[in-house]
Amino acid sequence: MTENELFENANRIEIREGKERTVKSYVLRNNVLSDKARRVIGAYMEKYGLFFRDEILDYRSVFGNDNPTVIEIGFGMGDTTAEIALRRPECNYIGIEVFLQGFVHLLEDLGERQIDNVRIMRFNAVDVLNHMIADSSVDGFHVFFPDPWQKKRHHKRRLMNPEFLHLLATKLKKGGYIYMVTDWEEYAEEVLELSENEPLLMNPFGGFAPPVTWRPVTKFEQKGMEKEHPINEIWLEKADIF
Ligand SMILES: C[S@@+](CC[C@H](N)C(=O)[O-])C[C@H]1O[C@@H](n2cnc3c(N)ncnc32)[C@H](O)[C@@H]1O
Repeated sequence: MTENELFENANRIEIREGKERTVKSYVLRNNVLSDKARRVIGAYMEKYGLFFRDEILDYRSVFGNDNPTVIEIGFGMGDTTAEIALRRPECNYIGIEVFLQGFVHLLEDLGERQIDNVRIMRFNAVDVLNHMIADSSVDGFHVFFPDPWQKKRHHKRRLMNPEFLHLLATKLKKGGYIYMVTDWEEYAEEVLELSENEPLLMNPFGGFAPPVTWRPVTKFEQKGMEKEHPINEIWLEKADIF
């Protein structure tokens, strides 16, 4: 790949662009590659980055092992992603995020600290799951503090909607999990309710889950706690119905 192709690819984040664009769970603000972004992408993309391709991803060829694969959606600045990968080195992690600054921040961190059990993609997660992730192949999904899209007229932008929950469930292996945390109580209640209507999922806790020991506080969690929002954890597992 030439340097220009590398930067062009790094800046393409969705399949349907412009007029074709559908309702999205994110808003892209600054999408210009700064000198720093170019330097970091040039240095580390080949080893720690993945590009969107309309082709099923082979985890073994990406990571060189058969360890369990966990996918994190919307990692923000990615400090939590890196920390979890260090705390649970027995898993491989694929982080997906469209936010340029966060992507570059985590890419640099992975490269500098050589955190080799993480790969990251800068693309719409819905497209990635639909085109690159095999059914029944994922051990876990992490969705930490997804944008709550607070206004009622924006609820249709919420990432965790019935279709997406079904998509996640389809991609999970038997016994695989979805771990979502949010500081937006009404969103949390909504996802619990949606999960009850998704036959591919079961809730081993019957309601909200207790926190796990290995998840550090995320950036958005910190902001939520400063506003005294309750932190609700949801842990769902693929139902054993086959
Ligand atoms: C509120 S932030 C939370 C970031 C981080 N998880 C944390 O807790 O600090 C939600 C992130 O999800 C990302 N996001 C939303 N929809 C996405 C999608 N369809 N694909 C990839 N990233 C998405 C946004 O760009 C944003 O950075």
